[in-house]
Amino acid sequence: MAERKLRLGIAGLGRGFTVMLPTLALHPRLDLVAAVDTRPAAGVQFEADFGGTSYTSVEGMCAEADIDAIYVATPHQFHAEHTEIAARAGKHILVEKPMALTISDCTRMMDAAAVAGVHLIVGHSHSFDAPILEARRLIESEKFGPPRLINAMNYTDFIYRPRRPEELDTAQGGGVVFSQAAHQIDIARLLGGGLVETVYATTDNYDAARPTEGVYSAFLKFADGVVATLTYSGYGRFDSDEFTDWLGESGVVKNPANYGSARRALAEIDNMDAEAVLKADRAYGGPKGASPPRALPKNKSHEHFGLFVVSCTRGDIRPGPDGVRVYGNDGIETFTLAPPVVPRSEVIDELYAAVFDDVAPLHSGAWGRATLEVCRAVLQSADEGREVRLNYQVAARAMTGDA
Ligand SMILES: NC(=O)c1ccc[n+]([C@@H]2O[C@H](COP(=O)([O-])OP(=O)(O)OC[C@H]3O[C@@H](n4cnc5c(N)ncnc54)[C@H](O)[C@@H]3O)[C@@H](O)[C@H]2O)c1
Repeated sequence: MAERKLRLGIAGLGRGFTVMLPTLALHPRLDLVAAVDTRPAAGVQFEADFGGTSYTSVEGMCAEADIDAIYVATPHQFHAEHTEIAARAGKHILVEKPMALTISDCTRMMDAAAVAGVHLIVGHSHSFDAPILEARRLIESEKFGPPRLINAMNYTDFIYRPRRPEELDTAQGGGVVFSQAAHQIDIARLLGGGLVETVYATTDNYDAARPTEGVYSAFLKFADGVVATLTYSGYGRFDSDEFTDWLGESGVVKNPANYGSARRALAEIDNMDAEAVLKADRAYGGPKGASPPRALPKNKSHEHFGLFVVSCTRGDIRPGPDGVRVYGNDGIETFTLAPPVVPRSEVIDELYAAVFDDVAPLHSGAWGRATLEVCRAVLQSADEGREVRLNYQVAARAMTGDA
């Protein structure tokens, strides 16, 4: 008997959707049947690419489309509303990171899913990356002793990618903490067990023309004695992909000769309207927008989110694009992973298992809320110059049966 496919509707056909396109187009257990976006051109392209139906509102799609689940990839500020609409219609939900902008919105979303009896999963985040999940399994095995120290670092050009105005306004969810710490913190929490007790952090802005924070440095203390130091800079100068032989975040080799290209492209325009046009041109449905791939990509490594080293008492664990290396007393052990067949398939696999086999997801609503709480604590600590204590943390669900 043919395996049942998960029928998915999409809310938001922008950049988040575009980076998920290879996954959504190629995952064998998925059917893309419906979508909604406020840009009509995106709906037109969706119907041409997938033969699905495009709608003009999330309510309309959830009421009319024959879908099992919805992928909410609208801007952060709409995640709570669109999740509630989907839950009320009895649809399972995969919602992009960050889960929402406030703890109360996250709680609303969890409550809506619980009342409706549907699953709520927060992702994609890079804590779904296979090498991170493998590192988590190795930590759970206790072969190298308990984790004590996590060091993470990522340098990108995030600040100079074309933006909507609210993406440059922290009060509306802009800046690197809501969008990028949501990845780095999610990974650190998974590797460190999940239960962050306190956060001390600083943020900074080096460019008045991009009026939101572009860097942060955070120190996390976990309940069981693990500590994590997280560094992020999005100003497009040093690029930490130099540490992975120029394998980029998406697992594809990038050309270091393109140094500074994001900043140069923006320098040619001088206002937010022109920036919005640049963004729309590159968006799905726009003249320079992406199309779904027809075949599996070749020579692709696993995705990554910069450097992570987890020091356990008997070994240092380092996930990388091809697997995990463990630096022990007597040498280096390599746990090589087969290259990905479908990029980010882990996200759909987790959703599929929740929807059809009722498997409790690792990246549940409670998990996503706890990560958002740490993101908010980074901003609060930087603002108030003090250590912030947390209240909504949850432990990472064990990945191995008897862990
Ligand atoms: N996990 C990842 O790798 C990743 C990458 C990029 C973005 N994202 C996430 O995706 C979400 C969207 O960000 P983005 O960068 O794609 O933004 P974007 O502006 O590129 O795309 C948002 C899309 O939503 C549409 N939209 C806006 N309001 C809508 C509404 N009310 N109903 C239907 N459609 C609406 C817009 O027209 C646009 O096409 C964010 O939460 C972001 O964090 C995740």
